[in-house]
Amino acid sequence: MHQKLICVFIWLPWSLIKRNTLSYYKNKNIWITGASAGIGRGLAIALSKKGANLVLSSRKEAALRATEKLCDPSVSITILPLDLEDHNGLDDILTKNKPQLSQVDILINNGGISQRSKVVDTDFDVYKKLMDINFLGTVKLSLGILPYFRKRNAGQYVVISSMAGKFGVPVRSGYSASKMALHGFFDAMRAELKNTDIVTTIICPGYIQTDISLNALTGSGSAQGTRDDAQRNGMPLSAFITRALSAIENHKEEIQVGGFVETKIAPLINRLSPSLFKKIIARSKVT
Ligand SMILES: NC(=O)c1ccc[n+]([C@@H]2O[C@H](COP(=O)([O-])OP(=O)(O)OC[C@H]3O[C@@H](n4cnc5c(N)ncnc54)[C@H](OP(=O)(O)O)[C@@H]3O)[C@@H](O)[C@H]2O)c1
Repeated sequence: MHQKLICVFIWLPWSLIKRNTLSYYKNKNIWITGASAGIGRGLAIALSKKGANLVLSSRKEAALRATEKLCDPSVSITILPLDLEDHNGLDDILTKNKPQLSQVDILINNGGISQRSKVVDTDFDVYKKLMDINFLGTVKLSLGILPYFRKRNAGQYVVISSMAGKFGVPVRSGYSASKMALHGFFDAMRAELKNTDIVTTIICPGYIQTDISLNALTGSGSAQGTRDDAQRNGMPLSAFITRALSAIENHKEEIQVGGFVETKIAPLINRLSPSLFKKIIARSKVT
């Protein structure tokens, strides 16, 4: 009985301190793109519970408001609709919202769209759209925030890439290219900013249970409209969010999170024998 009481006396204050004062995220201003669904919504909910003030962005304002309702009501939340494909519009948003955006501590570049079509079936415009949203839209916002990060010599970029950004994956040629481009850009910028306290964390999800495949573009640019089995059977969103938050908090440069096969076995084979890996991926029925 005595021992139990002592445990409660130690555990209770410690968990309260941990929750309220030791959170890396408490009172941080965090801007999340793609916050209307999936990973972005999951991050928003979890970060609000850790005391972060949030700016939530994506195209669908009503869905962003639905995310806001799921967040902890004690934090400040701003809804800032934007379209990552509309680069001039992003300029306007960065200018008009300067007072608030100049206070951003962490920019989570999460908004994005996938693809399910073979090269032979894919219109050029689909490639342009994938690059405009996943790569150039992300670069535009990141450049917009950079002067504020540099002025304060502090700030963190989080980039939600993909395992498809580590190697070319069938029926995702444009998606893979757009995610690889993010690695090129952010790895180079991290190196250039090595003498500053500006941090870049790249997170490469494997298959995570969201609607990404439902929204993926087909060769003509329409949404696929169905969920892939791989996504349906992927890592639960909550498990992914826990791993992602830990990586951000610990200033990891890059992590790979998802199923054992796509995040451990595949990169290992690719490293040990790139030619074997290329044969395997060419034969695989990646959906
Ligand atoms: N789930 C996975 O298995 C997986 C695997 C690897 C990488 N990822 C990456 O994780 C990120 C989030 O995807 P998710 O799985 O959460 O998919 P999701 O449920 O389809 O969410 C995608 C988010 O991106 C936003 N978005 C799409 N196009 C946009 C645009 N033009 N402008 C602004 N926002 C846009 C969507 O909001 P609106 O429709 O409101 O604009 C939505 O909030 C993506 O970058 C994706 O590539 C996911």
